[in-house]
Amino acid sequence: MSGRLNLVLPEVLANPYPHFARLRRESPVCQVDPGGMWAVTRYADVIHVLKNPQVYSSAGIQRTMEPPWLGHNPVAHSLLVMDAPQHGRARALVSRAFGASVLTRLEPMLRATAEQLVSALVVQRTVDFLPALALPLPAAAIGHLLGLDASLYPRFKRWTDHLAEVSATTESDQEGQKRIRHTIQEMEHYLREVMAERRREPREDLVSGLLQARVDGEALTDAELVAFLFLLLVAGLETTVNLLGNAAVLLADHPELLARLRAEPALVPAFIEEVLRYEAPAQSTFRMTLEEVELGGVKLPRHAVLLLHLGSASRDEAYVPDAERFVLERPERGHLSFGHGAHFCLGAALARLEARVVLDALLPRIRSLSRGPEPLQWVPSIQIRGVTRLPVEVLPA
Ligand code: HEM
Repeated sequence: MSGRLNLVLPEVLANPYPHFARLRRESPVCQVDPGGMWAVTRYADVIHVLKNPQVYSSAGIQRTMEPPWLGHNPVAHSLLVMDAPQHGRARALVSRAFGASVLTRLEPMLRATAEQLVSALVVQRTVDFLPALALPLPAAAIGHLLGLDASLYPRFKRWTDHLAEVSATTESDQEGQKRIRHTIQEMEHYLREVMAERRREPREDLVSGLLQARVDGEALTDAELVAFLFLLLVAGLETTVNLLGNAAVLLADHPELLARLRAEPALVPAFIEEVLRYEAPAQSTFRMTLEEVELGGVKLPRHAVLLLHLGSASRDEAYVPDAERFVLERPERGHLSFGHGAHFCLGAALARLEARVVLDALLPRIRSLSRGPEPLQWVPSIQIRGVTRLPVEVLPA
């Protein structure tokens, strides 16, 4: 293939899938822009990398999240970037926060919030789906989980938007760099205040739990705690907002799908899985080679940074039959949208619950969801797949 593919060109963002299909056919491991990372697009290669962390280190994520111009980004020091054995200890410590009992406790609040938001939406009828429903529900979930003040929820989106821009921000984009540095300072300042408050007055929440937690008899340092809280906000908000937004785009563009789900609500979980596969909200993750290695027929040097394209892998015809089509009742075949192996998404059950709760509240209340003729604007990121705005009109049932 001639020339490197630039993943954030508007025409690529509008429909990246034919480009990925071409990469899978012609250059399954090749350098792409921005950044010149090695994109890995075939299912077999992506899963191979995820299953071999001793060769492909999660430290690759650190490289992309903390470029020299940024200086400091707490997410680049979180669980997400750690390898064994450090990763196993940190993950064991925080896994508790995502157990079934925590979700069972969270569910009534999520259902009540979804009902309220949907009631407001059917009265308004013409809304931007993102601030009306797709954002506030995951913000309430993560805010509640962390025990943060509800008045902060509107700020979460700006914070996570800016952090998602790190890997696509160029050396010359001084304004963008300044914005991101400012956001990191603001987030860190706020999260440290929350930690100080919970130290003074512990509550029944995750921050208090993490402050009391011990790994091999040692408490987490403040820097480790800040890194984890940053990670939860980044990993838990933007992704779920985009899952809900992408689901709404599909329902607006395929009225027959909406009618089918209204008639057969038991299909909602299958719909959520297919949205995750078809428009993966987290399109990619990163790894770094720890030695010289051959992948997909290409020799990679030591310390090469790989862009593992989960969204492409989940549309690989070699793994999923008829992969470029949205098929509601697919025979069980896993996608890679929550990753695989040691770093498999800790919040997968929570994200599925949030999507379920929103659709359970929305589908009985609307007859149709339509969007205007203007083209969708996609988030300019190599990691995230989601729209920047989603004006819709709903017809109440
Ligand atoms: C649709 C929504 C979501 C998607 C698509 C998603 C996707 C992913 C993916 C692909 C990974 C693996 C990254 C890697 O291997 O490098 C991951 C890890 C992670 N996710 Fe999610 N995620 C979602 C929602 C959430 C939520 C709601 C939370 C928490 C509130 C969360 C917390 C995490 C954490 C803590 C990790 C790191 C796990 C580790 O490194 O061991 N995610 N997620």
